[in-house]
This record gives sequence, structure tokens and C-alpha cells, in this order.
Amino acid sequence: MLGCYAVTGGAGFIGSHIALRLVRDGHEVRVVDDLSTGSRDNLEGSGGKLRVIEGDICDGASLRRAFDGADCVFHQAALASVPRSVDDPAATNRVNVDGTLHVLQAARDRGVRRVVCASSSSVYGDSPTLPKCEDMLPAPKSPYAVTKLAGEHYCAAFTEVFGLEAVSLRYFNIFGPRQDPHSQYSAVVPLFVTALLEGRRPTVFGDGEQSRDFTYVENAVEANFRAARAAGAPGVTFNVGCGKCYTLNELFQALGAILGCEAQADYAEPRAGDVRHSMADITRARTILGFKPLVGFEEGLRRTVEWYKGRAEA
Ligand code: NAD
Ligand code: UD1
Repeated sequence: MLGCYAVTGGAGFIGSHIALRLVRDGHEVRVVDDLSTGSRDNLEGSGGKLRVIEGDICDGASLRRAFDGADCVFHQAALASVPRSVDDPAATNRVNVDGTLHVLQAARDRGVRRVVCASSSSVYGDSPTLPKCEDMLPAPKSPYAVTKLAGEHYCAAFTEVFGLEAVSLRYFNIFGPRQDPHSQYSAVVPLFVTALLEGRRPTVFGDGEQSRDFTYVENAVEANFRAARAAGAPGVTFNVGCGKCYTLNELFQALGAILGCEAQADYAEPRAGDVRHSMADITRARTILGFKPLVGFEEGLRRTVEWYKGRAEA
């Protein structure tokens, strides 16, 4: 059935994949984004059924315009970087905690049925058990992780107190086309891919033996769509990953193999607030959402490299 959806942070990396998929499926889409890390270019080719409301998620008026008549909100807007939150915890708190609260309040007030919120695997911190399962006690290590955990608690509380159907998805390192490679706070995959394509040596923080459950973006989109519909999802938090992990050194080698170059990196001091190992147990998402990863690590990396190559040649 065709409907109306809002995507906060829809001009960003993950949000633009959600928004464009909704448009492709024929839905009406409102994006609310302040374009601080996102860009209108990410929504190119979206056609007439998508409207961008340029505004801050802490501003109720922008949210009301975006949410009026929407069935479901995909809440992706945030300051997404761990080191950025170490540099300026208050700025990350404002967007990620206050902003999430504003989104939930506006959704409740506009009669939105469900809100699917982007949380993060960083909430687990360095708890030693792998894979990470939602029943484990969170142990956030960085200001960013604290904000994401707070957002989850607000979602559960809004479901409990107001009957707003709010779901939290703990993404594990999502990568793919359109992830910004240009900021000092960019994620590791776009930084590594663009460095190798430009013949530069990427920097590895620490010994490169830290690991992540690198997850192609199409899998995250799939999890969002399932979370928007599943009966047992409101008030619940789900891991979204592939259930495998790779070290940064392995990531680096895999990219070298795809690009057919001998990849060499510089090594620097480990980053403050960095988690050592991360891998998802996706049993809960499989059971309640019917989620299964659609695109694996190597295939995802190949598609990602192709996209950055195409952009470099354009
Ligand atoms: P992104 O930076 O590409 O997207 C975030 C978007 O939010 C941007 O378009 C930005 O302009 C917008 N935004 C930021 N502050 C805003 C504000 N005050 N008002 C309105 N819009 C604002 O990041 P992303 O990687 O697409 O992350 C999307 C979400 O997923 C975030 O909530 C992030 O914390 C979460 N997440 C991402 C990953 C990952 O690996 N990329 C993993 C776990 C969780
Ligand atoms: C990422 C996401 C965060 C999300 C989390 C979930 C971004 C910017 N960060 O954080 O939103 O909540 O996953 O798991 O999308 N590294 C290098 N060299 C670099 C850059 C990074 O060695 O040039 C290392 C980091 O020190 C870290 C690893 O690569 O050990 C991953 O870093 P990064 O991509 O920033 O992701 P996370 O911090 O895991």
C-alpha cells in the first residue's frame, strides 16, 4: 500500500538510501535535514514525490511540516562520529539526545504510527563477549555512545507511556555508496577507499587488529523497512549487522585485492573512545523482524569501490 513517510537525516548516507528506496516504491517522502553532513546531491534523481525540508531536528516547526500525515518516521539525523563527540560532547548531545526527543514528541503530536530510530552498536562498549546480544548490559565508552543509548531509552519510554510505536536499530558499521569521505570525522571505509583510489596511504589508528561487523547499507535499509511493519517491534531494540567481523587490517587487504594494488598504510596512535571488537548477534532481528543480511562484506565492498571509482571518473 502506498503511504507517506518522513526521513530525518534523509540527505545523509543511510537516510538517502532509505528515502530513495521509498520513492522508488512509489511512496510520498519528506526529508528533514539541516545539510550539516548531508547533501542534496545524495537525493539526485528522486523525482517529484520527495520534498526536502531544510531544518534542524531541534526545531519543532520543521518537524511538524515533515511529519504531518506521515505514517512512519525513519529517524536517521544525528552527529554520527565517535571522535566528533570526544571533541565536542555537548554538540553531539544536543542533536542526538535533544533532537531525538523532539522527533519523538513531534511524531506523537502529529499522530505518526511508528518511529524507527537509528541507534548504534557503540552502546555495547568493550564488553568482552562476542557476538554482542541485545540482552547484554550496555557499557558506552564515548559521549556518542551515551547519546545513542539515551535515544533508545526515550524510544522505549515513548512506547510505554504514549503508545507511540518506537523501535531502535543498533546499526553495526554501515558502509556503501554516498558515505562522505571528505570530513576528518568520516568513517573508515570511505576514507580507505578514496585514499587508495588517489594513491595515498590511509592511516590506521592503533595496530589495525580492532574489528568491526562491516555491514553493507542495503542491509540496513532492509532492516528499517521490516522494523516499520513488524508486529513485535514497538518498544524493542534490535542489532542490525551481518554477524561476522573483520579487522581493519583485513579490510585494508580486501580493498587492496579489489583494487589490484599493493595497499600500504601508516599506523598512528589509537583513537580515544574506540571500541576494540564488535560483532552482532542478529537472532532477535531474524526472529521478530524476519531480517537476514542480503549483501555480504566482499560484495558490498566491490559495489562500494565501483561507486567511488565512478565518481572519481565523472
Ligand atoms: P550522515 O552524517 O551521513 O547522516 C546524518 C544526517 O543527519 C546528515 O544528512 C546530516 O546533515 C543530518 N543532520 C545532522 N544534524 C542534524 C540536525 N540537527 N537536524 C537535521 N539534520 C541533521 O550519517 P549516517 O552514517 O548516514 O548515519 C545515520 C544514522 O545512523 C545516525 O543516527 C548515526 O548515528 C547512525 N549510525 C550510523 C552508523 C554507520 O556506520 N554509518 C552506524 C551506527 C549508527
Ligand atoms: C561507526 C560509525 C558510528 C556508529 C558505529 C557503530 C561513522 C563515522 N561512525 O563508528 O556512527 O555508531 O560505527 O558501530 O559512521 N579508523 C582508522 N583510520 C581512519 C578512520 C578510522 O583506523 O582513518 C579506525 C577507527 O579508529 C576505528 C575503526 O577504524 O577503530 C572504525 O572507525 P569508524 O569508521 O570511525 O567507525 P566507528 O568508530 O566504529
